[in-house]
Formats: sequence, structure tokens, C-alpha cells
Amino acid sequence: MYKIFETVDDVSRYTAQRLLDKILAKPAAVLGLATGGTMEPVYAQLVQMLQQQPTDLSRLTTFNLDEYIGLTESHVQSYRYYMDEHLFDKLNLPRERVHLPDGMAEDIDGACLAYSAAIQAAGGLDLQLLGIGSNGHIGFNEPYTRFSSRTHVIALSEQTRRDNGRFFSDQDEVPIHALTLGIQDILEAKEIMLVATGPNKAEVMAELHHSGVDEALPASALKQHDNVTIVLDREAAALLPSAEWRAVQTVQLLAG
Ligand code: F6R
Repeated sequence: MYKIFETVDDVSRYTAQRLLDKILAKPAAVLGLATGGTMEPVYAQLVQMLQQQPTDLSRLTTFNLDEYIGLTESHVQSYRYYMDEHLFDKLNLPRERVHLPDGMAEDIDGACLAYSAAIQAAGGLDLQLLGIGSNGHIGFNEPYTRFSSRTHVIALSEQTRRDNGRFFSDQDEVPIHALTLGIQDILEAKEIMLVATGPNKAEVMAELHHSGVDEALPASALKQHDNVTIVLDREAAALLPSAEWRAVQTVQLLAG
């Protein structure tokens, strides 16, 4: 199901509200979280909403999708740092309930196995939030990752390293490897929201729309899931077939 909004602000408010609704409906929810530029305004909205509506977060559990290998928690580009900065510190979430893959683990294979197992032990993901790479990756599952994958080490594609180079002072600083939740782990979430904004995502969203289920396009795995919402702004939706645009009117009415 598509939800297409006029602006990034509308997209972020809608997405944050869905996260808040999930927490209100199930205070012990297990949320799957993402990082990246797309999520910054989403988390800013969520923090604002939670300030206006104080909510008990003491039973909430979170699992992030991915982490670079070789960056310590204090590295400003590590995803742990990102999450602390944009969400965890602002909400005072208990540290023991928030989880990210450990990109500094000595036993990386053991850490991967333990991460997928911890999600299952927590009862599985109630809601998985996803962004999408310009090459169709979800988490850091690059093209041709097996759809049956669990948490694993991935060599980042050149395209992803170029895209993410914008966050680093030097392109050469972008790590070569990362840990990511596998596609099978993602598909086991009860509900999934994929969010994409801006003109750089228009092509991949059109490709995803027309694609069959194909390991060349990791996000196409979501077509096997029966509870996915794709949340787009006008720019990211620009190359979708006109039929999808009928939804825009409805959503604008809802938003307004
Ligand atoms: C981040 C993640 C990635 C990003 C994707 C889009 O945790 O899993 O899949 O969601 O690379 O990144 P942005 O939002 O920066 O375009």
C-alpha cells in the first residue's frame, strides 16, 4: 500500500505517528529501526510528539538494522552514535533495551547469530522501519543478497559507499563492510514501513514498483509480505504510474 504525501514534513509526521500509535497500542512493542538521512526528520517528529504526549517507554525494545564494521560507538558516523544523537538520548531509553549489531565484535559470526536470535527471543519485530538505498538495498542487504539471509556481514557496494560518502569528511573513510539484519529477519516483522523521500529515490521506487520478486533488487522481497506500507513524498513518487497518484488526493485529504 502506498501513502504519498506532498512534503518530507508530511511523510515524517505520518511515519512518526504510526510509530507512536504502535507504542501506545503495545507498550512492550519490539521496533525495528533504521538510520540514514530519511529517518532524521522522522525521529525529530517522534521526539516532539513524545514531548507533547509523555508516554511510558520503559517496556519498549528496539533493534537497529545495521552498523558499520570498524567504527566505535563514539565515532560520529557509527549508527550507534546516530541513534543516540537523534533518538535514544532524547527519549532516555534504557540502554539494555536498545540493540544494534556490534560492528566491533571480536567474534563477528557469533555476534550475527546472536543478533537474529535476540530478536526472536524478544518475540519478533512488531514493526520494522526501513529506508531504501538508491540500488534498492534494505538494511545493508545489497543486490543479490539471499532472501533467506539472517544477520550477516556485507561488503558495501561502491554505489552505497558513494551515496553514504556525503556523511563522511572523506570518501575513503566510508567503511568497506557492515553488519546487517538479513532479509529473512526483516520479512519476519509483523508489519513493515518503507520510507523514501526526495528526487534521488524516484528511480528506485519506480523500479521497485515494476519489479517482480528478484534478488537483484533487495526491496522487492517486500512483495512477499502482506503488511507493508510504502510512504513517499511527491518527489520520490514522481516516476510511479499515474494510477498510484490517485492515492495522493486521499492522503492529502487525510493529512489536511
Ligand atoms: C540505514 C539503512 C539503509 C538506509 C538507506 C537509505 O539503517 O538500513 O538501508 O535506510 O541507505 O539511506 P538514506 O535515508 O540516507 O537515503
